[in-house]
Amino acid sequence: MPSESDLQRAVARRRTFAIISHPDAGKTTLTEKLLMYGGAIQLAGAVKARRASRHATSDWMEVEKQRGISVTSSVMQFEYEGHTVNLLDTPGHEDFSEDTYRVLTAVDAAVMVIDAAKGVEAQTIKLLEVCRLRNTPIITFVNKFDREVRGPLEILEEIEETLRIDCAPVTWPIGMGKTFRGVFSLHDDRLLRFRAGQERAEADGELIEGIENPRLDELFPDEIETLREEVELLRGASAPFDPELFLAGKQSPVFFGSGINNFGVRDVLEALLTWAPEPQAREASERLVEPAEAPFSGFVFKIQANMDPKHRDRIAFFRICSGRYQPGKRVQHLRLGREIRLGNALTFMANERVTSEEAVAGDIIGIHNHGQLQIGDTLTDGEALSFRGIPHFAPELFLSVRPKDPFRAKQLQKGLKELGEEGAIQVLILGGGRTVLGAVGQLQFDIVRHRLAEEYGVDAVYESVALHTARWLKFPNPAMAEDFARQEASSLGRDGVGNPVFMATNRYNLELAEERWPEVRFVATREHGELMAD
Ligand code: G4P
Repeated sequence: MPSESDLQRAVARRRTFAIISHPDAGKTTLTEKLLMYGGAIQLAGAVKARRASRHATSDWMEVEKQRGISVTSSVMQFEYEGHTVNLLDTPGHEDFSEDTYRVLTAVDAAVMVIDAAKGVEAQTIKLLEVCRLRNTPIITFVNKFDREVRGPLEILEEIEETLRIDCAPVTWPIGMGKTFRGVFSLHDDRLLRFRAGQERAEADGELIEGIENPRLDELFPDEIETLREEVELLRGASAPFDPELFLAGKQSPVFFGSGINNFGVRDVLEALLTWAPEPQAREASERLVEPAEAPFSGFVFKIQANMDPKHRDRIAFFRICSGRYQPGKRVQHLRLGREIRLGNALTFMANERVTSEEAVAGDIIGIHNHGQLQIGDTLTDGEALSFRGIPHFAPELFLSVRPKDPFRAKQLQKGLKELGEEGAIQVLILGGGRTVLGAVGQLQFDIVRHRLAEEYGVDAVYESVALHTARWLKFPNPAMAEDFARQEASSLGRDGVGNPVFMATNRYNLELAEERWPEVRFVATREHGELMAD
């Protein structure tokens, strides 16, 4: 029987993170290089295949194609220098979906990739906001220095201003594009020389120790003076890396490099191992759960349908928060109040040669799901716990839906119920029984339309509705809830689990209602499991 301290050691070895970026900044490339360090792939085949299909980003068929691959590539686990690293994929398409947000609730750190030519882009801003909800520590990689890009200081300023996070440069680039010479590590006082085209992980560049090293004068007579000045300036003026601020999500260590040339990537990986936190304690509504506690616990953060539409089984992605998973484990499903057996849960090894027979806090397992698991569900050894912080966002896009053939209404309801549970879409019922789909990104509609037809055989009519936004309602007492229901009946709906929702036809409509009902809370983000009614 493994002891508690074995468990502690196993947990301490884990690092669980996601890469966040705007499309095209270089997330796939970085993923690929990181996996190479882990020996998980030899050359870039697997990940490149995904990149090939990346271009048609908003096209549903492409998403469909990716779906098959992404079940296995949603989580990639690899070993590096005695650590077990779990890299969680965030969906790559431009259209933003709630899925991405939820993946970020399951990580302990994130690597943010910035395209040095484009700077901070829209999707990065959104993703960082989500990381901020949980103060997730962020490591920044400024990519593409082999190209003509913006100056490093300008980029740092933009990150600090736009993303409101302090930057602590750890490495500093010398030149860019054709004159990119390498990066100087302010931390280790040494220069890593750039050579293009380092396809393989082991081919690291030459290291030159010390900023005053005469070899630098020899190699870079034109650049060395500027570099020395910049290094002096940075050492004097920029904030040094502070592990505490980093762990609190307030400061980000910044690395420069070129993913495609495998340059600067190892620095990021080393930072993940040495600075990023091991699996952290998780807050449940009842108490804080420590990762090395022996009793098992964790939560479902994502549900993904399988490719084969005939087999409607789905994979529930489950983050372990404490204890140990072993095949065949029996756990308590708290929402359903019954025991289930995790017979053949999947562990996700990017390297197929390694098989993992057990998983601990920080690891992700995939549970075959025939509808019994929903996003946010907690499984434990028996203790009543409910993990917090899995967000649902008020939808901003709406479509009403009804079956073309009224005799298919049942199938439509079933499909919507399941897709709603999966988190693919939000299903809202308005007064009068009208069903409205709510989404955060347009692509969610395309996916639902396609899946309702393919998987549930429902031909439906979708119509635009004059809705601007929705807000969950929190009432101070049941009497006010009743009052509100009477007076605002035409704007009142219910979400998939029965929470009251205010449906606003425009912004003023919402503002007016907020003024009229100062004691009612109009909520834009709710946590999973949080019931709004008193
Ligand atoms: P993403 O997953 O964030 O969407 O980005 P991805 O890694 O797919 O990279 C987007 C594009 O940027 C790719 O070019 C990739 O080769 C290129 N890229 C990534 N890192 C670097 C870098 O360090 N330097 C340069 N110069 N380019 C980089 P593509 O032309 O769209 O695809 P491909 O033809 O290279 O496959």
